[in-house]
Amino acid sequence: MITLSNLSKRYGEKLLFERFSFRINEGSRIALLGANGAGKSTLLKIIAGLVEPDSGTVRCARTATVGYLPQDGVYHRGLTLLEEAWTAFEGILRLEEEITDLSDRIRLTTAEEGPSSPFLPALVDELGRAQHDMERREGYRKESKIKEILFGLGFTERDLHRETEEFSGGWHMRIEMAKLLLAEPSVLLLDEPTNHLDLESLEWIEEYLRSYRGALLIVSHDSRFLDNLVDQVLDVTGSAITSYSGNYSSYLLQRETRRKISEASRENQRKLIERTNRFVERFRYKNTKASQVQSRLKMLEKLQRVEQEVEQRDIAFSFPDPPRSGRIVMELKDLAKSYGDVTVFGSLSLVVNREDRIACIGVNGSGKSTLARIIAGIEPFNRGKRLPGHNVIPAYYSQNMADALHPDKTVLETLSGLAPEHSSGALRSLLGSFLFSGDDVFKPVSVLSGGEKSRLALAKMLLEPANFLILDEPTNHLDARSKTVLQQRLRDYPGTLFIVSHDRDFLAPLVTRVIALGHGGVDEYPGSLEDYLERLHRLREPERNDTTGKPPDTPATADRDRKRHEARRRQERYRKTKPLRESLATVEQAIQDKESRKAAIEAAFADRETFSDERLIQSLHKEHAELAANLESLYDEWTRNEEALETAEREYGPPDSYS
Ligand SMILES: Nc1ncnc2c1ncn2[C@@H]1O[C@H](COP(=O)(O)OP(=O)(O)OP(=O)(O)O)[C@@H](O)[C@H]1O
Ligand SMILES: [Mg+2]
Repeated sequence: MITLSNLSKRYGEKLLFERFSFRINEGSRIALLGANGAGKSTLLKIIAGLVEPDSGTVRCARTATVGYLPQDGVYHRGLTLLEEAWTAFEGILRLEEEITDLSDRIRLTTAEEGPSSPFLPALVDELGRAQHDMERREGYRKESKIKEILFGLGFTERDLHRETEEFSGGWHMRIEMAKLLLAEPSVLLLDEPTNHLDLESLEWIEEYLRSYRGALLIVSHDSRFLDNLVDQVLDVTGSAITSYSGNYSSYLLQRETRRKISEASRENQRKLIERTNRFVERFRYKNTKASQVQSRLKMLEKLQRVEQEVEQRDIAFSFPDPPRSGRIVMELKDLAKSYGDVTVFGSLSLVVNREDRIACIGVNGSGKSTLARIIAGIEPFNRGKRLPGHNVIPAYYSQNMADALHPDKTVLETLSGLAPEHSSGALRSLLGSFLFSGDDVFKPVSVLSGGEKSRLALAKMLLEPANFLILDEPTNHLDARSKTVLQQRLRDYPGTLFIVSHDRDFLAPLVTRVIALGHGGVDEYPGSLEDYLERLHRLREPERNDTTGKPPDTPATADRDRKRHEARRRQERYRKTKPLRESLATVEQAIQDKESRKAAIEAAFADRETFSDERLIQSLHKEHAELAANLESLYDEWTRNEEALETAEREYGPPDSYS
């Protein structure tokens, strides 16, 4: 349907991809993956016709329609939500015109050349296709369809007649997404569609896209979302785009296998080169071996060096400890907040203690972002008290911060204006620790990729000497590596944390307290995040335990019995596998700690100052060897644990959606 041939694109020194050819077929389900800044958004923009490739072509079938959801920066104005949604059908008007046009041409051709004209079959064919398309899309031109999609994406009946200007940034992306789904193009290009969604809308869109009739090309870092949707993966790494068939998990496996193979062949080659060199050295001056030496030398030259995968090392940078705050960091008393006639909190009370690490979760519309802004002191409220503690210095981050960076400033200038006391060397190493290396720091903000922008805004926030960080969805747009970097920074952070996020993997090792919003108040959960999610899941599962007055067996009760049985099984499965999961997590944590210590030692080896200290070097070497041995056995343990967990899980059927 869409054919890409020999696409190449570079920005300055950075080659994004080269001579890339690919076909998007009808009904393709493709994930586009790669690190922040790899060129994913650029590729989508090229396919959508918004950016020119340096060379190569994009050819689209005539009947194909392409819909594109950008990563950010969409705003609507001037219409109400419902009116805006109706504009999605402008494409149908064009289709109507095309149908009229084709019918006219068929009439004319028949009149002029008779019914056996050789041009007729193609025209009739095209008309048929257009009419079919029309019928299919006609069904969509209904207010009920509009509502289904808007509500699925988290809007409410009340929102329908609100002006679109009233919605905040993330909601504009949802409006855009709704319009795309309504227009039903034959190819959907989605750039990180789940970033602005809460858990419920995410599940909804996943389900919707599963039965979507057109082709999908999706950029996303959400592994579960991708696993459920795609059967093909394009991976952008170091200017090569590689295609893998299978879903996300299978892609990870294949990639790991490839990595191992290429590592092994690199190792074999190294040994071969070593042996050959030894042979050459030994027999170089022996006449009897001259020809053998010659041929081996030739072989050495010919040896194709297997290209080494470039693994950048994370740079360590320690932030100065912020001043200590009082024991109580923030107290909210009986707080009420409403927007117009929509009440977000009726009466909310919350005490944040020093060094609390709070995860704030809750469904869409429960007011997480509002609460974060109130705590940060940038959102007014209607009633109640907000009492900041002694010596509390808050810093606030949300995606808006990233969007509000000055577009003309360079990466380095963005920070230097803020911290003139830091040398540009110090700032560059701070930026290095946030994965901006070399010339990256001279890029203007306007050309940064989504992840790069978020990273810069986060670095900027961490530069402030704040002792209370309030983060609203900080991992949006971040790839796995950037997430790990942020996680490490936050783990080492000595102050108080309040994080709104639905990224469980990110939150789990960070937080000590979970609070959930809903029903106009806050619900404290004393256990771990995992426990909380499990409980939430149980609450959602309609459990009816009353056995008195049992109704007769109807299909409905049979269904209920099945559900109850399933729920029980799920609970049992959770109980049985919990210790396994816990010990797996412990091993993982140990591995992570040891790996980061090992990396730190390796970084120290590269440091000239370390080198001048003979004794230090020796002790580091010793520690490094011990760590390596230790890690080896930890990885073994991990594999054993993982296998045990897999076996246990198999026993209880497919994992439920919260495991
Ligand atoms: N107009 C431009 N001029 C110079 N460099 C650019 C321009 N547009 C993008 N880049 C650079 O090209 C690289 C790829 O950008 P792109 O937005 O395609 O990345 P991405 O893979 O979508 O990343 P992310 O996951 O962070 O969204 C980035 O390093 C970006 O800074
Ligand atoms: Mg992008």
